[in-house]
Amino acid sequence: MCGIVGAVGKVKNYSKFVLDGLASLDYRGYDSAGVSFLNNNQEFACYKVVGTVDDLRKKIPNKVEASSAIGHTRWATHGQPTLNNAHPISSMHGLFNLVHNGVIENYRSLKKKLLEKGYTLKGETDTEIIANILEYIYLKNPHDVLIAIERLMKILKGSYALAILFKEEPNKLYFAKKDSPLIIAESEKASYLASDPLPLIKYSQKFIDVEDGEYGYLTKDVIRLLINGKEVEKKYTERNLQLLNKDLGGYSDYMLKEIEETPQVISRLLIKYFDGHNFTFDDYLLNELRNAEHITFLACGTSYHASLVGERYFRLLGKRSETFIASEWAYEPIFSNKNQVFILISQSGETADLIKCQKIINNRGMINIAITNTMASTLDREATFTLYLEAGLEVAVASTKAFSAQVTLLALLVSALFNNTSVIESLHSLNNVLLNIINRQEEIADLANEIYKYNLIFFIGRGSDYIAAKEASLKMKEITYIHSEAFPGGELKHGPIALVDNKTALLAFDSDAKTDLAIRNNAKEVETRRGHIYIISIKELAKEGDAFNVNFVSPNLSVIPMVYVSQYLAYYVAKNKKVNIDKPRNLAKSVTVE
Ligand code: F6R
Repeated sequence: MCGIVGAVGKVKNYSKFVLDGLASLDYRGYDSAGVSFLNNNQEFACYKVVGTVDDLRKKIPNKVEASSAIGHTRWATHGQPTLNNAHPISSMHGLFNLVHNGVIENYRSLKKKLLEKGYTLKGETDTEIIANILEYIYLKNPHDVLIAIERLMKILKGSYALAILFKEEPNKLYFAKKDSPLIIAESEKASYLASDPLPLIKYSQKFIDVEDGEYGYLTKDVIRLLINGKEVEKKYTERNLQLLNKDLGGYSDYMLKEIEETPQVISRLLIKYFDGHNFTFDDYLLNELRNAEHITFLACGTSYHASLVGERYFRLLGKRSETFIASEWAYEPIFSNKNQVFILISQSGETADLIKCQKIINNRGMINIAITNTMASTLDREATFTLYLEAGLEVAVASTKAFSAQVTLLALLVSALFNNTSVIESLHSLNNVLLNIINRQEEIADLANEIYKYNLIFFIGRGSDYIAAKEASLKMKEITYIHSEAFPGGELKHGPIALVDNKTALLAFDSDAKTDLAIRNNAKEVETRRGHIYIISIKELAKEGDAFNVNFVSPNLSVIPMVYVSQYLAYYVAKNKKVNIDKPRNLAKSVTVE
């Protein structure tokens, strides 16, 4: 979480670079924003707001004289969103201004030491500790910023991507990285850095991914990378720039745009992984999966729900498969004595909980397949194999098209194992089903007009409909702030039904003939207790009074249209509640802290 940007050299318009850059990163956090400019007279100009980049924009002159600059958009971890806690943070003697993405675990003991040395602190952030420890080391002996950063990195425990301005060297921009993403871009007259490539693509397409443990500095025409005092060779990495388009394209919100891009994404995946006759997955990868006796999925949030679908697919093939929430598995890793393959799913490819798992897996030398939307992300770089989601940039915090892409990719992958090409036809007709839902979204908006009044919403389903219920419930709570829970239909009567009264709404997914009767009975049980029921069914199972129905789709793919309806539903409920749909409170798109 948190987005950082920085530049040094002849940047045409520093204000524009920093503000536009931060605006493109604000999906990483939007509690506060700030920027520091450093001019050739060694003067800092620092501007901060509690609020968004748009609020910051109002405070900053259009043109600023600067030799270097850093900026930050914050998702608060340590310390509330206040001006004192907003970055850039200045060291006590004003030698350093820095921005930080990450969490310092040993900041309490470091803080104690600083206070003992007579340092005074203005805020509550771990970042202020970094700025002051750096200044302390610098002043104590080496009077060399690079050596001070090297020593600082030996002291800090935790994760950080740091961009650092040093008052006495306005033509240098220092940096350091461990466990938080940081990317450098090189151009003719300036050098840049940021948490991800978005702020940089207008300025350069020569990217370097800074690796863990690396630090150094940028000048107008030099990029110095070191690790433990030794020079590191620069390695350039590629990005698919077409997929980084952040244009709203006439839509009022990114979420709606991204929901409606889903059929396009599915078509793109079909083209990428099927050439018209054969699947195009790497043979070696397919063989590893064929030979695997045990498949373990790891993921968080929406990606976890897609993993549950993947787990089901492999189970239906007769393989042992299971899914863990990454943050749980990381503290209790389970390895089997079978031939085990890990599949790690993440839209961003930077989710800290998942990266932690990947490190554990790599330390054991085991195979891990990354399924991600983000080329050159940490997950991608450290994986044995990567499969890209090709979903294009997902800006809205609530994940939508990435979920459908993840499930589509898993369906293609599993089908490729046994060259089962019938999935291709099914995916083409799935797209027609989704297009039909897009055309009928007014009906879902009408449903949302009723649903938004409830303050408790249950979602139920059985089998893959239960997975849909889980994802639907997550979407509803995260963007509408209505309390929502998902249950397997059969579980309601084992406890949760006690909560039901006439203020409860229950949405039931019914896409499977096997469980049709059972799920309708579960809904009835709620209605009998004065709850209000809404059934989302497929046409073949539809009954009079159902809230919405979708056209037939292959049973193994029905989770996609069920979730699709629920994405629209959450979207229109949020519209009714007039909340910020793309940036729900307390959340951030890329969760790079544990
Ligand atoms: C929900 C949502 C989150 C993410 C989760 C994992 O709409 O967006 O639950 O799915 O934070 O993120 P990734 O997939 O980037 O690892």
